[in-house]
Amino acid sequence: MNIPSSNTPNEVLSTIMNHRSIRKFKDERLKPAQIETIVRAAQMAASSSFMQAYSIIGLTDPALKRELREITNTPYVEENGHLFIFCADLQRLTIMAAEQEKQDMKATLESSAFCQIAIVDAALAAQNAVLAAESLGLGTVIMGSVRKDIRRLDEMLGLPEYVIPLFGIAVGVPDQQPEVKPRLPLDAVYFENRYASEAEQRERIDSYDREISQYYHTRSENNRQDSWSRQHIERLKMKHPLTEMTDYLHGKGMSVN
Ligand SMILES: Cc1cc2nc3c(=O)[nH]c(=O)nc-3n(C[C@H](O)[C@H](O)[C@H](O)COP(=O)(O)O)c2cc1C
Repeated sequence: MNIPSSNTPNEVLSTIMNHRSIRKFKDERLKPAQIETIVRAAQMAASSSFMQAYSIIGLTDPALKRELREITNTPYVEENGHLFIFCADLQRLTIMAAEQEKQDMKATLESSAFCQIAIVDAALAAQNAVLAAESLGLGTVIMGSVRKDIRRLDEMLGLPEYVIPLFGIAVGVPDQQPEVKPRLPLDAVYFENRYASEAEQRERIDSYDREISQYYHTRSENNRQDSWSRQHIERLKMKHPLTEMTDYLHGKGMSVN
């Protein structure tokens, strides 16, 4: 990805602009200092009202990683340098509260707004973790697929009430060099003062569909015939398994509906 040439290039921007997910890692564990740096960087993300409403669990037990690989049918869930599971966590805020105070906190904690806040906090922390790892020369991939059997993952991690898993991040030494994926045109994403008209968006997205089709067609691995719009239209027309988790979320006191 290009940075406008009037900006002085710097290492932060080049790390950001060179991001691509890595799905094949060398057989090398992360060093404890690398894990610590990644987690500390995650912790420095901004956090709504300073609640720091997330937890990060390193899944190191080989038997658990193997099981999660089998559930997700994804080799890089097991074959990586380290696997972090990011959770939205409103539980920690209740730890020091007296019993009556816990009751008084319940309505706010169980509101959809607070669930959303915890998810945003976790997402910001996760992106910091990704950038920190990539700045150390490591590769990363975020994986929502670890929630395929969310109840089993919850049990594996021993998650209490008000804590739900959101996604995994596999980190490791890259064993592939995929091309950077072109993003939407800037004018399809960034508007000034007022949202764009549908006609303007249609034109921009049509041009992006052609660009991404070319990328999918010519990339070095896993090439296919597809466009950005078509892949999402086809996916969203079908009932998505993740829409089935409402009961689980209610049971945890964490729900966005
Ligand atoms: C919340 C989230 C969940 C994701 N889940 C998966 C996943 O389950 N499996 C996977 O291979 N990639 C997953 N990804 C990675 C995206 O597919 C990837 O970021 C996107 O296609 C853009 O490609 P890039 O990261 O290489 O630029 C996920 C990314 C995010 C942000």
